[in-house]
Amino acid sequence: MYRSRPKDSLGDDVLRFLSSMQHDQSILYYDILGSQAHSIMLHEMGNISAGELKKILSSLEEAKKKPEIIDKEGYEDIHEALEAFVIKSAGMDAGGKMHTARSRNDQVVLDIRMKVRDDINAICAALADLVASLVERAKESKNVPMPLYTHLQQGQIGTFSHLLLAYAYSLMRDMERLYLSYGRINQSPLGACAIGGSSINIDRKRTAVLLGFDSLVKNSVDATSSRDVFLEYAATLAILSSTLGRMAEDFILWSTTEFGYIELADRYSSTSSAMPQKKNPDPLELTRAKSAIVTGNLVSMLGIVKALPSGYSRDLQDLKPPLFGASLITLDTVKIMDGVVKTLQINKEKMRQAASTSYAVSLDIAEQLVTKHKLPFRSAHKIVGALVDKAASMGNVPLGKLEVSDITSILKTLKSDLKADELAKIIKEMTPEKSLQVRKSSGSPNPAEQEEMIQSLSQGVSNYKVGIGKRTKMVEGSFDNLAKTVEKYLQS
Ligand code: ARG
Repeated sequence: MYRSRPKDSLGDDVLRFLSSMQHDQSILYYDILGSQAHSIMLHEMGNISAGELKKILSSLEEAKKKPEIIDKEGYEDIHEALEAFVIKSAGMDAGGKMHTARSRNDQVVLDIRMKVRDDINAICAALADLVASLVERAKESKNVPMPLYTHLQQGQIGTFSHLLLAYAYSLMRDMERLYLSYGRINQSPLGACAIGGSSINIDRKRTAVLLGFDSLVKNSVDATSSRDVFLEYAATLAILSSTLGRMAEDFILWSTTEFGYIELADRYSSTSSAMPQKKNPDPLELTRAKSAIVTGNLVSMLGIVKALPSGYSRDLQDLKPPLFGASLITLDTVKIMDGVVKTLQINKEKMRQAASTSYAVSLDIAEQLVTKHKLPFRSAHKIVGALVDKAASMGNVPLGKLEVSDITSILKTLKSDLKADELAKIIKEMTPEKSLQVRKSSGSPNPAEQEEMIQSLSQGVSNYKVGIGKRTKMVEGSFDNLAKTVEKYLQS
Protein backbone atom coordinates (compact mmCIF):
# COMPACT_ATOMS: atom_id res chain seq x y z
CA MET A 1 0.00 0.00 0.00
CA TYR A 2 2.86 2.37 0.74
CA ARG A 3 4.69 1.61 -2.51
CA SER A 4 4.37 4.85 -4.44
CA ARG A 5 7.83 4.91 -5.92
CA PRO A 6 8.90 1.30 -6.56
CA LYS A 7 7.34 -0.24 -9.63
CA ASP A 8 7.67 -3.85 -8.51
CA SER A 9 6.07 -5.35 -5.44
CA LEU A 10 8.07 -6.82 -2.57
CA GLY A 11 9.18 -10.41 -3.01
CA ASP A 12 7.23 -12.81 -0.80
CA ASP A 13 10.41 -13.90 0.93
CA VAL A 14 11.34 -10.26 1.53
CA LEU A 15 7.89 -9.48 2.88
CA ARG A 16 8.15 -12.40 5.26
CA PHE A 17 11.56 -11.18 6.37
CA LEU A 18 10.36 -7.61 6.90
CA SER A 19 7.04 -8.33 8.51
CA SER A 20 6.47 -7.52 12.16
CA MET A 21 2.85 -8.69 11.98
CA GLN A 22 3.28 -11.51 14.47
CA HIS A 23 4.45 -9.23 17.26
CA ASP A 24 2.17 -6.40 16.24
CA GLN A 25 -0.87 -8.30 17.48
CA SER A 26 -0.24 -6.94 20.94
CA ILE A 27 -0.21 -3.32 19.76
CA LEU A 28 -3.21 -3.48 17.43
CA TYR A 29 -5.59 -2.27 20.14
CA TYR A 30 -3.37 0.73 20.85
CA ASP A 31 -2.95 1.41 17.14
CA ILE A 32 -6.71 1.65 16.80
CA LEU A 33 -7.05 4.01 19.78
CA GLY A 34 -4.13 6.12 18.55
CA SER A 35 -5.74 6.32 15.10
CA GLN A 36 -9.06 7.38 16.63
CA ALA A 37 -7.42 10.13 18.67
CA HIS A 38 -5.38 11.32 15.70
CA SER A 39 -8.42 11.42 13.41
CA ILE A 40 -10.51 13.31 15.98
CA MET A 41 -7.71 15.85 16.32
CA LEU A 42 -7.38 16.16 12.53
CA HIS A 43 -11.07 17.01 12.36
CA GLU A 44 -11.03 19.40 15.31
CA MET A 45 -8.12 21.24 13.71
CA GLY A 46 -10.05 21.62 10.46
CA ASN A 47 -8.13 19.09 8.40
CA ILE A 48 -10.92 16.61 7.73
CA SER A 49 -14.68 17.06 7.60
CA ALA A 50 -17.18 15.70 10.12
CA GLY A 51 -18.42 13.24 7.51
CA GLU A 52 -14.92 11.97 6.79
CA LEU A 53 -14.22 11.61 10.49
CA LYS A 54 -17.42 9.66 10.97
CA LYS A 55 -16.47 7.20 8.27
CA ILE A 56 -12.97 6.73 9.66
CA LEU A 57 -14.22 6.32 13.22
CA SER A 58 -16.87 3.82 12.31
CA SER A 59 -14.27 1.67 10.52
CA LEU A 60 -11.96 1.94 13.50
CA GLU A 61 -14.79 1.03 15.86
CA GLU A 62 -15.48 -2.04 13.79
CA ALA A 63 -11.80 -2.97 13.95
CA LYS A 64 -11.80 -2.40 17.70
CA LYS A 65 -14.79 -4.68 18.22
CA LYS A 66 -13.72 -7.39 15.76
CA PRO A 67 -9.94 -7.15 15.25
CA GLU A 68 -10.02 -10.47 13.40
CA ILE A 69 -11.77 -8.83 10.43
CA ILE A 70 -8.62 -6.91 9.55
CA ASP A 71 -6.90 -8.62 6.67
CA LYS A 72 -3.27 -9.15 7.65
CA GLU A 73 -2.04 -10.91 4.55
CA GLY A 74 0.41 -9.10 2.33
CA TYR A 75 1.19 -6.22 4.68
CA GLU A 76 4.47 -5.36 6.34
CA ASP A 77 2.96 -4.49 9.67
CA ILE A 78 -0.24 -3.83 11.56
CA HIS A 79 -0.16 -0.09 10.80
CA GLU A 80 -0.32 -0.78 7.11
CA ALA A 81 -2.98 -3.47 7.56
CA LEU A 82 -5.17 -1.22 9.70
CA GLU A 83 -4.90 1.73 7.33
CA ALA A 84 -5.69 -0.54 4.38
CA PHE A 85 -8.73 -1.84 6.27
CA VAL A 86 -9.95 1.71 7.00
CA ILE A 87 -9.43 2.79 3.39
CA LYS A 88 -11.31 -0.26 2.19
CA SER A 89 -14.23 0.18 4.53
CA ALA A 90 -14.41 4.01 4.70
CA GLY A 91 -13.37 4.64 1.11
CA MET A 92 -10.25 6.40 -0.11
CA ASP A 93 -11.78 9.87 0.16
CA ALA A 94 -12.20 9.54 3.91
CA GLY A 95 -9.94 6.63 4.92
CA GLY A 96 -7.09 7.91 2.79
CA LYS A 97 -6.94 10.99 5.02
CA MET A 98 -6.39 9.14 8.29
CA HIS A 99 -2.62 9.10 7.90
CA THR A 100 -2.40 12.89 7.35
CA ALA A 101 0.38 14.44 9.46
CA ARG A 102 1.40 11.05 10.82
CA SER A 103 4.06 8.51 10.04
CA ARG A 104 4.50 4.95 11.15
CA ASN A 105 7.57 6.30 12.92
CA ASP A 106 5.60 8.25 15.51
CA GLN A 107 2.75 5.76 15.33
CA VAL A 108 4.75 2.67 16.30
CA VAL A 109 6.51 4.30 19.21
CA LEU A 110 3.17 5.69 20.39
CA ASP A 111 1.69 2.19 20.41
CA ILE A 112 4.67 0.75 22.27
CA ARG A 113 4.52 3.49 24.88
CA MET A 114 0.83 2.79 25.45
CA LYS A 115 1.43 -0.93 25.75
CA VAL A 116 4.40 -0.63 28.08
CA ARG A 117 2.44 1.84 30.22
CA ASP A 118 -0.23 -0.84 30.75
CA ASP A 119 2.43 -3.52 31.27
CA ILE A 120 4.07 -1.44 33.99
CA ASN A 121 0.78 -1.02 35.81
CA ALA A 122 0.07 -4.74 35.57
CA ILE A 123 3.54 -5.77 36.74
CA CYS A 124 3.57 -3.22 39.56
CA ALA A 125 0.17 -4.47 40.75
CA ALA A 126 1.42 -8.08 40.71
CA LEU A 127 4.59 -7.03 42.52
CA ALA A 128 2.59 -5.22 45.18
CA ASP A 129 0.60 -8.43 45.72
CA LEU A 130 3.81 -10.43 46.01
CA VAL A 131 5.30 -8.02 48.55
CA ALA A 132 2.05 -8.13 50.54
CA SER A 133 2.13 -11.95 50.50
CA LEU A 134 5.74 -11.97 51.72
CA VAL A 135 4.83 -9.67 54.59
CA GLU A 136 1.84 -11.85 55.51
CA ARG A 137 3.97 -15.01 55.55
CA ALA A 138 6.64 -13.16 57.54
CA LYS A 139 4.11 -12.34 60.26
CA GLU A 140 3.43 -16.02 60.75
CA SER A 141 7.08 -17.12 60.94
CA LYS A 142 8.44 -14.17 62.89
CA ASN A 143 9.93 -15.84 65.90
CA VAL A 144 11.08 -19.08 64.36
CA PRO A 145 14.89 -19.22 64.38
CA MET A 146 16.82 -20.64 61.47
CA PRO A 147 20.42 -20.31 60.37
CA LEU A 148 21.29 -17.54 57.93
CA TYR A 149 23.89 -18.49 55.37
CA THR A 150 26.89 -16.79 53.84
CA HIS A 151 28.81 -18.76 51.19
CA LEU A 152 25.98 -21.24 51.82
CA GLN A 153 27.62 -22.04 55.17
CA GLN A 154 25.75 -21.35 58.38
CA GLY A 155 26.53 -17.77 59.40
CA GLN A 156 24.30 -16.25 62.06
CA ILE A 157 20.96 -17.12 63.57
CA GLY A 158 18.04 -15.43 61.88
CA THR A 159 14.45 -16.20 61.09
CA PHE A 160 12.62 -17.28 57.97
CA SER A 161 10.52 -14.14 58.25
CA HIS A 162 13.65 -12.00 58.16
CA LEU A 163 14.55 -13.51 54.80
CA LEU A 164 11.03 -13.04 53.47
CA LEU A 165 11.21 -9.39 54.49
CA ALA A 166 14.59 -9.10 52.76
CA TYR A 167 12.96 -10.20 49.50
CA ALA A 168 10.14 -7.78 50.15
CA TYR A 169 12.56 -4.84 50.47
CA SER A 170 14.37 -5.89 47.32
CA LEU A 171 11.11 -6.20 45.39
CA MET A 172 9.96 -2.82 46.69
CA ARG A 173 13.03 -1.28 45.07
CA ASP A 174 12.29 -3.20 41.86
CA MET A 175 8.78 -1.79 41.99
CA GLU A 176 10.08 1.71 42.68
CA ARG A 177 12.34 1.53 39.61
CA LEU A 178 9.43 0.40 37.44
CA TYR A 179 7.14 2.98 38.96
CA LEU A 180 9.58 5.76 38.16
CA SER A 181 10.19 4.57 34.62
CA TYR A 182 6.46 5.00 33.97
CA GLY A 183 6.75 8.79 34.20
CA ARG A 184 9.22 8.87 31.30
CA ILE A 185 7.19 6.43 29.25
CA ASN A 186 3.88 8.21 29.71
CA GLN A 187 4.70 10.98 27.20
CA SER A 188 3.19 11.19 23.72
CA PRO A 189 5.41 11.07 20.62
CA LEU A 190 2.39 11.39 18.28
CA GLY A 191 2.62 14.29 15.86
CA ALA A 192 6.39 14.07 15.55
CA CYS A 193 5.52 12.55 12.20
CA ALA A 194 8.34 10.91 10.19
CA ILE A 195 11.17 12.79 11.92
CA GLY A 196 10.66 16.53 11.45
CA GLY A 197 7.05 17.29 12.37
CA SER A 198 4.36 18.49 9.96
CA SER A 199 3.27 21.65 8.15
CA ILE A 200 -0.34 20.62 8.69
CA ASN A 201 -2.26 22.27 11.47
CA ILE A 202 -2.17 19.66 14.24
CA ASP A 203 -2.53 19.78 18.01
CA ARG A 204 -0.18 17.33 19.66
CA LYS A 205 -1.46 18.17 23.11
CA ARG A 206 -4.99 17.22 22.15
CA THR A 207 -4.00 13.70 21.05
CA ALA A 208 -1.84 13.35 24.16
CA VAL A 209 -4.82 14.19 26.38
CA LEU A 210 -7.17 11.93 24.42
CA LEU A 211 -4.77 9.03 24.95
CA GLY A 212 -4.11 9.75 28.63
CA PHE A 213 -0.49 10.92 28.37
CA ASP A 214 0.98 13.27 30.95
CA SER A 215 2.98 15.31 28.44
CA LEU A 216 4.73 15.26 25.07
CA VAL A 217 8.06 13.94 23.90
CA LYS A 218 8.80 17.41 22.61
CA ASN A 219 11.52 17.13 19.98
CA SER A 220 10.37 15.31 16.84
CA VAL A 221 13.75 13.64 16.23
CA ASP A 222 13.91 12.51 19.84
CA ALA A 223 10.29 11.32 19.75
CA THR A 224 10.85 9.05 16.75
CA SER A 225 14.47 7.95 17.33
CA SER A 226 14.87 7.39 21.06
CA ARG A 227 14.18 4.08 22.72
CA ASP A 228 15.98 4.77 26.00
CA VAL A 229 12.75 4.58 27.97
CA PHE A 230 12.18 1.01 26.80
CA LEU A 231 15.76 0.10 27.57
CA GLU A 232 15.29 1.51 31.04
CA TYR A 233 12.10 -0.48 31.44
CA ALA A 234 13.73 -3.71 30.21
CA ALA A 235 16.68 -3.08 32.52
CA THR A 236 14.37 -2.74 35.52
CA LEU A 237 12.76 -6.05 34.51
CA ALA A 238 16.16 -7.71 34.21
CA ILE A 239 17.10 -6.46 37.68
CA LEU A 240 13.74 -7.62 39.03
CA SER A 241 14.34 -11.02 37.44
CA SER A 242 17.58 -11.31 39.38
CA THR A 243 15.66 -10.76 42.63
CA LEU A 244 13.15 -13.42 41.61
CA GLY A 245 15.98 -15.74 40.58
CA ARG A 246 17.56 -15.41 44.01
CA MET A 247 14.30 -16.16 45.75
CA ALA A 248 13.77 -19.16 43.46
CA GLU A 249 17.23 -20.50 44.20
CA ASP A 250 16.76 -20.13 47.98
CA PHE A 251 13.39 -21.86 47.87
CA ILE A 252 14.72 -24.68 45.70
CA LEU A 253 17.52 -25.29 48.16
CA TRP A 254 15.33 -25.13 51.24
CA SER A 255 12.80 -27.51 49.76
CA THR A 256 15.41 -30.27 49.41
CA THR A 257 15.14 -33.20 51.82
CA GLU A 258 18.53 -32.17 53.22
CA PHE A 259 17.26 -28.74 54.29
CA GLY A 260 13.53 -29.46 54.51
CA TYR A 261 12.77 -25.91 55.71
CA ILE A 262 9.88 -25.51 53.31
CA GLU A 263 7.66 -27.63 51.14
CA LEU A 264 6.06 -26.37 47.96
CA ALA A 265 2.32 -26.82 47.56
CA ASP A 266 1.38 -29.66 45.19
CA ARG A 267 -0.05 -27.06 42.83
CA TYR A 268 3.46 -25.70 42.30
CA SER A 269 5.29 -29.02 42.15
CA SER A 270 6.14 -31.14 39.18
CA THR A 271 6.81 -34.88 39.16
CA SER A 272 9.07 -37.38 37.46
CA SER A 273 8.06 -39.79 34.72
CA ALA A 274 10.27 -42.42 36.33
CA MET A 275 10.86 -41.71 40.02
CA PRO A 276 7.55 -41.99 41.88
CA GLN A 277 8.77 -40.20 45.01
CA LYS A 278 9.50 -36.94 43.21
CA LYS A 279 8.08 -33.55 43.96
CA ASN A 280 10.18 -31.18 41.90
CA PRO A 281 10.26 -27.39 42.14
CA ASP A 282 10.00 -26.85 38.35
CA PRO A 283 8.20 -23.48 38.48
CA LEU A 284 11.08 -22.12 40.55
CA GLU A 285 13.67 -23.64 38.24
CA LEU A 286 11.98 -21.94 35.31
CA THR A 287 11.95 -18.71 37.29
CA ARG A 288 15.74 -19.00 37.43
CA ALA A 289 15.88 -19.63 33.69
CA LYS A 290 13.50 -16.78 32.89
CA SER A 291 15.88 -14.45 34.62
CA ALA A 292 18.48 -15.33 31.99
CA ILE A 293 15.97 -14.83 29.21
CA VAL A 294 14.86 -11.40 30.37
CA THR A 295 18.48 -10.36 30.83
CA GLY A 296 19.21 -11.69 27.34
CA ASN A 297 16.30 -9.66 25.97
CA LEU A 298 17.77 -6.53 27.50
CA VAL A 299 21.16 -7.31 25.98
CA SER A 300 19.55 -7.87 22.55
CA MET A 301 17.80 -4.53 22.84
CA LEU A 302 20.96 -2.70 23.83
CA GLY A 303 22.75 -4.31 20.91
CA ILE A 304 20.05 -3.26 18.45
CA VAL A 305 20.06 0.41 19.40
CA LYS A 306 23.81 0.71 19.86
CA ALA A 307 25.11 3.41 17.50
CA LEU A 308 21.98 3.54 15.35
CA PRO A 309 21.83 6.88 13.58
CA SER A 310 19.20 9.41 14.62
CA GLY A 311 15.86 8.98 12.87
CA TYR A 312 13.88 5.79 12.44
CA SER A 313 15.71 2.75 11.13
CA ARG A 314 13.99 -0.58 10.63
CA ASP A 315 16.32 -2.12 13.20
CA LEU A 316 14.02 -0.59 15.80
CA GLN A 317 11.26 -2.98 14.78
CA ASP A 318 13.25 -5.85 16.26
CA LEU A 319 13.04 -4.29 19.71
CA LYS A 320 9.44 -5.39 19.97
CA PRO A 321 9.89 -9.16 20.42
CA PRO A 322 12.43 -8.91 23.27
CA LEU A 323 10.56 -6.02 24.87
CA PHE A 324 7.13 -7.61 24.78
CA GLY A 325 8.64 -10.96 25.71
CA ALA A 326 10.26 -9.44 28.79
CA SER A 327 6.91 -7.97 29.89
CA LEU A 328 5.04 -11.21 29.44
CA ILE A 329 7.63 -13.38 31.13
CA THR A 330 7.96 -10.98 34.05
CA LEU A 331 4.25 -10.73 34.70
CA ASP A 332 3.87 -14.51 34.63
CA THR A 333 6.89 -15.06 36.84
CA VAL A 334 5.82 -12.55 39.47
CA LYS A 335 2.38 -14.14 39.66
CA ILE A 336 3.83 -17.65 39.92
CA MET A 337 6.17 -16.52 42.67
CA ASP A 338 3.25 -14.96 44.51
CA GLY A 339 1.42 -18.28 44.35
CA VAL A 340 4.47 -20.17 45.58
CA VAL A 341 4.93 -17.78 48.51
CA LYS A 342 1.26 -17.83 49.47
CA THR A 343 1.04 -21.63 49.50
CA LEU A 344 4.42 -22.93 50.64
CA GLN A 345 4.52 -24.88 53.86
CA ILE A 346 6.94 -23.52 56.45
CA ASN A 347 8.53 -26.33 58.44
CA LYS A 348 9.25 -24.41 61.63
CA GLU A 349 10.52 -27.41 63.54
CA LYS A 350 13.15 -28.21 60.91
CA MET A 351 14.39 -24.63 61.04
CA ARG A 352 14.42 -24.52 64.80
CA GLN A 353 16.25 -27.83 64.89
CA ALA A 354 18.93 -26.63 62.47
CA ALA A 355 19.36 -23.43 64.47
CA SER A 356 19.66 -25.17 67.83
CA THR A 357 22.53 -27.41 66.73
CA SER A 358 24.29 -24.71 64.76
CA TYR A 359 27.59 -22.93 65.33
CA ALA A 360 25.81 -19.86 63.96
CA VAL A 361 25.63 -18.57 67.55
CA SER A 362 29.42 -18.10 67.51
CA LEU A 363 29.41 -14.41 66.65
CA ASP A 364 26.82 -13.72 69.36
CA ILE A 365 29.01 -15.52 71.92
CA ALA A 366 32.05 -13.53 70.81
CA GLU A 367 30.03 -10.32 71.12
CA GLN A 368 29.01 -11.27 74.65
CA LEU A 369 32.70 -11.53 75.53
CA VAL A 370 33.17 -8.03 74.07
CA THR A 371 30.23 -6.45 75.88
CA LYS A 372 30.30 -8.36 79.20
CA HIS A 373 34.02 -9.03 79.59
CA LYS A 374 35.44 -6.09 77.62
CA LEU A 375 37.60 -8.36 75.48
CA PRO A 376 38.98 -7.01 72.22
CA PHE A 377 36.81 -8.47 69.45
CA ARG A 378 39.86 -10.11 67.85
CA SER A 379 40.65 -12.04 71.08
CA ALA A 380 37.00 -13.09 71.45
CA HIS A 381 37.03 -14.28 67.81
CA LYS A 382 40.10 -16.43 68.56
CA ILE A 383 38.56 -17.99 71.66
CA VAL A 384 35.21 -18.85 70.08
CA GLY A 385 36.94 -20.13 66.94
CA ALA A 386 38.98 -22.52 69.10
CA LEU A 387 35.81 -23.66 70.93
CA VAL A 388 34.12 -24.44 67.59
CA ASP A 389 37.21 -26.27 66.40
CA LYS A 390 37.12 -28.44 69.50
CA ALA A 391 33.36 -29.13 69.26
CA ALA A 392 33.70 -29.95 65.56
CA SER A 393 36.48 -32.42 66.33
CA MET A 394 34.14 -34.18 68.79
CA GLY A 395 31.75 -35.05 65.95
CA ASN A 396 30.24 -31.63 65.29
CA VAL A 397 28.55 -31.49 68.68
CA PRO A 398 26.89 -28.16 69.59
CA LEU A 399 29.02 -25.73 71.62
CA GLY A 400 26.81 -26.39 74.66
CA LYS A 401 28.15 -29.94 74.81
CA LEU A 402 31.69 -28.77 75.64
CA GLU A 403 32.84 -29.60 79.18
CA VAL A 404 34.20 -26.88 81.44
CA SER A 405 37.49 -28.79 81.35
CA ASP A 406 37.62 -28.48 77.54
CA ILE A 407 36.98 -24.76 77.83
CA THR A 408 39.62 -24.40 80.54
CA SER A 409 42.29 -26.02 78.38
CA ILE A 410 41.38 -23.86 75.36
CA LEU A 411 41.57 -20.68 77.46
CA LYS A 412 44.90 -21.84 78.84
CA THR A 413 46.33 -22.49 75.36
CA LEU A 414 45.22 -19.04 74.30
CA LYS A 415 46.66 -17.51 77.47
CA SER A 416 43.30 -15.97 78.30
CA ASP A 417 42.43 -15.09 81.89
CA LEU A 418 38.74 -15.45 81.19
CA LYS A 419 36.96 -17.75 83.67
CA ALA A 420 35.96 -21.05 82.06
CA ASP A 421 32.72 -21.34 84.03
CA GLU A 422 31.68 -17.83 83.02
CA LEU A 423 32.33 -18.64 79.37
CA ALA A 424 30.46 -21.94 79.78
CA LYS A 425 27.49 -20.00 81.14
CA ILE A 426 27.48 -17.62 78.18
CA ILE A 427 27.58 -20.58 75.80
CA LYS A 428 24.76 -22.42 77.59
CA GLU A 429 22.57 -19.36 77.64
CA MET A 430 23.13 -18.57 73.98
CA THR A 431 20.10 -20.39 72.61
CA PRO A 432 18.84 -19.41 69.15
CA GLU A 433 16.03 -17.42 70.81
CA LYS A 434 18.53 -15.57 72.99
CA SER A 435 20.67 -14.96 69.93
CA LEU A 436 17.74 -13.16 68.30
CA GLN A 437 17.01 -11.24 71.50
CA VAL A 438 20.54 -9.89 71.93
CA ARG A 439 20.91 -8.87 68.26
CA LYS A 440 19.35 -5.49 68.56
CA SER A 441 20.91 -3.44 65.76
CA SER A 442 18.48 -1.73 63.42
CA GLY A 443 17.31 -4.11 60.69
CA SER A 444 18.46 -7.25 62.49
CA PRO A 445 16.14 -10.25 62.96
CA ASN A 446 15.37 -9.18 66.52
CA PRO A 447 11.58 -9.58 66.94
CA ALA A 448 11.06 -5.86 67.66
CA GLU A 449 13.07 -4.91 64.56
CA GLN A 450 11.08 -7.33 62.47
CA GLU A 451 7.86 -5.84 63.74
CA GLU A 452 9.06 -2.44 62.61
CA MET A 453 10.01 -3.77 59.16
CA ILE A 454 6.63 -5.47 58.81
CA GLN A 455 4.88 -2.21 59.65
CA SER A 456 6.94 -0.11 57.28
CA LEU A 457 6.67 -2.58 54.39
CA SER A 458 2.90 -2.91 54.89
CA GLN A 459 2.57 0.86 54.80
CA GLY A 460 4.90 1.18 51.81
CA VAL A 461 3.11 -1.44 49.78
CA SER A 462 -0.33 -0.01 50.45
CA ASN A 463 0.89 3.44 49.36
CA TYR A 464 2.11 1.91 46.12
CA LYS A 465 -1.18 0.08 45.64
CA VAL A 466 -2.99 3.41 45.84
CA GLY A 467 -0.61 4.99 43.31
CA ILE A 468 -0.83 2.05 40.90
CA GLY A 469 -4.62 2.03 41.21
CA LYS A 470 -4.78 5.75 40.39
CA ARG A 471 -2.57 5.33 37.35
CA THR A 472 -4.57 2.37 36.08
CA LYS A 473 -7.82 4.31 36.56
CA MET A 474 -6.29 7.31 34.82
CA VAL A 475 -5.48 5.27 31.71
CA GLU A 476 -8.84 3.48 31.77
CA GLY A 477 -10.60 6.81 32.33
CA SER A 478 -8.95 8.42 29.33
CA PHE A 479 -9.81 5.43 27.15
CA ASP A 480 -13.43 5.70 28.34
CA ASN A 481 -13.41 9.40 27.48
CA LEU A 482 -11.92 8.66 24.10
CA ALA A 483 -14.67 6.10 23.51
CA LYS A 484 -17.27 8.73 24.50
CA THR A 485 -15.71 11.29 22.17
CA VAL A 486 -15.75 8.73 19.36
CA GLU A 487 -19.40 8.02 20.14
CA LYS A 488 -20.20 11.74 20.14
CA TYR A 489 -18.72 12.20 16.66
CA LEU A 490 -20.40 9.05 15.39
CA GLN A 491 -23.78 10.32 16.61
CA SER A 492 -23.35 13.89 15.33
N1 ARG B 1 6.78 -2.13 11.58
C1 ARG B 1 7.59 -1.01 11.91
C2 ARG B 1 8.12 -1.20 13.33
O1 ARG B 1 7.66 -2.04 13.99
C3 ARG B 1 6.77 0.24 11.86
C4 ARG B 1 7.53 1.46 11.48
C5 ARG B 1 7.98 1.35 10.08
N2 ARG B 1 8.53 2.61 9.64
C6 ARG B 1 9.28 2.70 8.54
N3 ARG B 1 9.71 3.88 8.23
N4 ARG B 1 9.61 1.67 7.83
O2 ARG B 1 9.00 -0.54 13.75
